[in-house]
Amino acid sequence: MKKLLVLILITVMALLGFTACTDGNSNGGNGGGGSDGGGGTTNPPATAASDTLIAYFSCTNTTEGVAKHIQAETKGTLYEIVPEVPYTEDDLKYYTDCRADKEQKDNTARPAISGNVENIEKYDVVFLGYPIWHGQAPKIIYTFLESYDFSGKTIIPFCTSASSGIGSSDTNLHTLAPFAEWISGKRFPSGTSQNTIAEWIESLNMKFTENIMYLTINGNKVKVTLEDNSSTNALVEILKKGDIVYTADDYGGFEKVGALGHTLPTSDTELTTQAGDVILYLGSNIVLFYGSNSWEYTRLGRMEGYSVSELRTYLCADDGPVQVTISLE
Ligand SMILES: Cc1cc2nc3c(=O)[nH]c(=O)nc-3n(C[C@H](O)[C@H](O)[C@H](O)COP(=O)(O)O)c2cc1C
Repeated sequence: MKKLLVLILITVMALLGFTACTDGNSNGGNGGGGSDGGGGTTNPPATAASDTLIAYFSCTNTTEGVAKHIQAETKGTLYEIVPEVPYTEDDLKYYTDCRADKEQKDNTARPAISGNVENIEKYDVVFLGYPIWHGQAPKIIYTFLESYDFSGKTIIPFCTSASSGIGSSDTNLHTLAPFAEWISGKRFPSGTSQNTIAEWIESLNMKFTENIMYLTINGNKVKVTLEDNSSTNALVEILKKGDIVYTADDYGGFEKVGALGHTLPTSDTELTTQAGDVILYLGSNIVLFYGSNSWEYTRLGRMEGYSVSELRTYLCADDGPVQVTISLE
């Protein structure tokens, strides 16, 4: 009877993913219990902040206000489409045959843009904001769409206006980026609140995340806030294709280190690490710190919000190898 109870207890512990800090990793290395976060298949895939661009054109800051709310929700990169020749007040006095009126009537008008989006290829999702000008997007939006290759990217238009709806202003842009996936756009009035934008983004059924990944260390799931650098960008691309599972060994009484099975770009500098730091060493080893060390490293991120004693427990400090799964979800 006693034996049966022990057996049941062991089974329950194994199912819950409890593993001890021992020097063996035969105890659940292939369990995979903690990696899906209970998401289920209906959950949309997450778009990381570093993959989200919010590009907008705004002459009197109304559209800019909405763009900033979107940025606050998605933590994406804000990019203002700035005209090479700024629009003066007179240029914007509509129904006076002003500059803006003339451009809207001219199918070939493509006002030049000052500057450009850096590394547009890294963005998967582009929010595209503009004011309604005579029922349509301003021609500078046409310039913007013709300036880059949006193939495979998701474009989500949004606009502001005095009273008009979005009308055909968004669908008329589709031919300018025919290989993008266009989501139906939305019009907002001036003074739109953060809450309204949060609800709209929620309704898109897309998940926007900060730059984060998760480490499941011997069954314990720990969140890592990522740096935005070429190493983390490369790592996130690998993780989009699947989780990475590796074994990390104790070293020096301050870290767990293991081979990632991939080589990432490095930007090593002399660093003094702290407990919680997640570091790239020699381009292909990932180091999880529960103590401190000074060396030439590339910082990947931090296990933020965990006390040193929690980290020491999760990482089985001063003990043998641990099984680590790195995942985005
Ligand atoms: C040339 C021009 C044409 C406009 N046409 C319209 C329009 O057709 N319908 C409308 O409701 N508002 C129209 N507006 C008003 C703008 O859409 C509105 O003020 C917008 O929120 C301004 O955005 P911004 O502050 O980001 O530039 C027009 C404004 C300009 C300058």
